[in-house]
Amino acid sequence: MDIRYKNTVDEVKITSEITREQFALLYNTDSKEETEYLYEAAREVAQKHYGKAVFLRGLIEFTNYCKNDCYYCGIRCSNKNAERYRLSEEEIMSCCTEGDKLGFKTFVLQGGEDPYYTDEKICEIVRMIKEKFPNAAVTLSIGEKSYESYKKYYEAGADRYLLRHETANEEHYSMLHPANLSGAHRKQCLRDLKEIGFQIGCGIMVGTPKQTDDNIYEDIEFMKDLQPHMIGIGPFIAHKDTPFKDEPNGSADRTVNLLAILRLIFPKVLLPATTALGTADAKGRERGILAGANVIMPNLSPTNVRGKYLLYDGKICTGEEAAECNQCLRRRVESVGYKVEDARGDHPDFIK
Ligand code: 5AD
Ligand code: FES
Repeated sequence: MDIRYKNTVDEVKITSEITREQFALLYNTDSKEETEYLYEAAREVAQKHYGKAVFLRGLIEFTNYCKNDCYYCGIRCSNKNAERYRLSEEEIMSCCTEGDKLGFKTFVLQGGEDPYYTDEKICEIVRMIKEKFPNAAVTLSIGEKSYESYKKYYEAGADRYLLRHETANEEHYSMLHPANLSGAHRKQCLRDLKEIGFQIGCGIMVGTPKQTDDNIYEDIEFMKDLQPHMIGIGPFIAHKDTPFKDEPNGSADRTVNLLAILRLIFPKVLLPATTALGTADAKGRERGILAGANVIMPNLSPTNVRGKYLLYDGKICTGEEAAECNQCLRRRVESVGYKVEDARGDHPDFIK
């Protein structure tokens, strides 16, 4: 192994600091020896804070209507081939009941930016879930809203909020989104959410069109400043009905390297091994855990709508029942020597 590589891993592991050059070196290697050294270091850091625990978050994709038109996303408003659906309150509650039986202590409500769900409706849903499952955390992932709206969700009992920043570089942001969306506003949303008191998750896709190593370095700088509780990353995967249909997919190898690097820089952060990573590589989620990831988000959406929440082509787990995914994931986690922990899995520094 290149001695420079080994020394760099050691140094980043100890200091949690990384230069642009060091980042490019660690991120781009394909050497088995080097990546194994990197992943081992990341595992050690993860184990120091979390042992061999992996937390589950039950994902409920409750609407695929969206008013935005992001160039990468399969449920963008101008995709006329997407079959749109919304879940009723009863359907959402029965997903939670199912998840509760399976031992999940976090429910993630994710959807497009769908004006049908007014703040009042969202708050009502949050309150219903918290009332029936007081020990579970509720996470929202419903896009960019005003400070006042976020505040209402928080007061209704929502604990966490996921909003990937997608890219910290304004110019790159404008290559991925139409002109009515701005990276600056998205970052502001994340700061608002944190100030209000949510545990927040940001994140990016790996390998989006025109993404450079420097862009990802900027993402790291942005995240060092933001200090999110969770960082969600997965490879970009082209969707056939989007402007990016002919763009190459992001690499699972790069994604796993980035997971390990993030674990070294953000030792305590919650780091999911995402469904997109499992789609890009059949063993992607296992590889993610072995590179320092410690969260998995099994799908809890009703089977009749799963095949409709398609942000990218080839998404896995669209045919399985929640119970099947649950079993499958627990086995996968155990297959690499880790154990699912049926706990809320809050960030260690987080005191509400
Ligand atoms: N490939 C991979 N990830 C995608 N997302 C949206 N579209 C795609 C795609 N084509 C990710 C975005 C978004 C999250 C919910 O899903 O990062 O924030
Ligand atoms: Fe869903 Fe394996 S995780 S089927």
